[in-house]
Amino acid sequence: MVSETDGGRTVRVGLIGAGMAGQAHAFGYRNASMGDALRGVTVELAHVVDAVAPLAQDVAERYGFRRWGTSVDELLADPSIDAVSVALPNNQHLDVLARVLASGKHVLTEKPLGLDGDQAARLAELAAAPERAGAVDAVGFSYRRLPGLAALRTAVADGVIGAIRHFETTYYCHHAADAADPFTWRFDRAASGGGALIDLGLHAIDAVEFAVGPIAEVAAARFATVIPERMDRDGTPHPVTNDDMAALLLVAGDGALGTLQASRVAHSTPNSLSIRVFGERGMASFSTEDLNALWLHEAGGDARFDGPRRIITGPLHGAYADVSSFRSRGVGTGYGEAFIAQVQAFLGCILTGTPSETPFAAAARTMRVLDAAGEAAATGAAARIPGESAA
Ligand SMILES: NC(=O)c1ccc[n+]([C@@H]2O[C@H](COP(=O)([O-])OP(=O)(O)OC[C@H]3O[C@@H](n4cnc5c(N)ncnc54)[C@H](O)[C@@H]3O)[C@@H](O)[C@H]2O)c1
Repeated sequence: MVSETDGGRTVRVGLIGAGMAGQAHAFGYRNASMGDALRGVTVELAHVVDAVAPLAQDVAERYGFRRWGTSVDELLADPSIDAVSVALPNNQHLDVLARVLASGKHVLTEKPLGLDGDQAARLAELAAAPERAGAVDAVGFSYRRLPGLAALRTAVADGVIGAIRHFETTYYCHHAADAADPFTWRFDRAASGGGALIDLGLHAIDAVEFAVGPIAEVAAARFATVIPERMDRDGTPHPVTNDDMAALLLVAGDGALGTLQASRVAHSTPNSLSIRVFGERGMASFSTEDLNALWLHEAGGDARFDGPRRIITGPLHGAYADVSSFRSRGVGTGYGEAFIAQVQAFLGCILTGTPSETPFAAAARTMRVLDAAGEAAATGAAARIPGESAA
């Protein structure tokens, strides 16, 4: 499943979808071999496909893909391509990912895994087919590749703040705050599966599951669409058929209660994910607004100096040393580096024959949290995630 050239140390990569997220994947592949575990590995950007030909060509030229085109089938028919990244509008995921899985190639896809829990379950089933034995399937939950969030998870896992009592998480964006912001596939339920919750809130859901533990129950949920109609770039009006914002009450881990808010209409916050976790012995907090820091409070010290500390991330924290061009603390990394780390993890699985830590099966379970939020909002009653028991 890896090119035999260089004794299997060359990985040839295809990219399907050359928009915003696809270009972040291309950036990740271009820089992946700076990681220690990938020393000597050649990552060849072989073929990029987008429905918009000039965009595919532009991305090929800027990132160094050898070939570009508009046909997914041509890319998948090329036996020299080992691994494929998929970064398409959400309603394309089921069809295109099913074809990528059938090709036998390793696959890294953008979140969400399809439009809903059922589509995700179908894709997880296809990924687990016996013919795919040895092929990696992974979903890119990119925020867990930020050193500050990785450090928060470690603090929780190591018991630094004790058993978790409660948490809060938010993902706010302003990209749709202005009614004049144009209509795109993101505002159409049929194309997106949902609005702020599936697009942004899913990252916050993953941050909770990464740091605290699996979400077992959506105790309550409300969605709101505050701008009901938008014009597309040609001036044609369209109804907005999904949520501009969502508010959820969650139960996670060993019964910790938490809240989640996701909004794409939040003035003053261009792009901001935060999580704050309160334990029996302290508090840990991370926000992309202070991207290279973890805030940590360990209770019980000298009362005169009681309070949280700001810990600057560095090579001792996950997803830092292998992506930072300066391997020293305080220099920091950005969101682009998270995509390098994500690709490094994917390529590492391919080269070592190990499964991803974010396989389709796990992402399919996480998609059930979105289903549960929809159910809780519709019924006004708590909705359990299948297979999870709330403590
Ligand atoms: N992890 C993150 O931080 C992050 C950020 C942005 C988007 N995303 C995810 O990435 C995916 C894509 O989002 P985006 O913002 O890049 O969207 P986008 O609209 O910028 O790009 C999507 C691209 O797919 C192309 N396309 C559509 N259908 C196609 C088809 N059948 N074959 C080939 N090309 C096709 C479009 O022409 C477009 O260029 C979404 O699932 C989104 O949730 C993740």
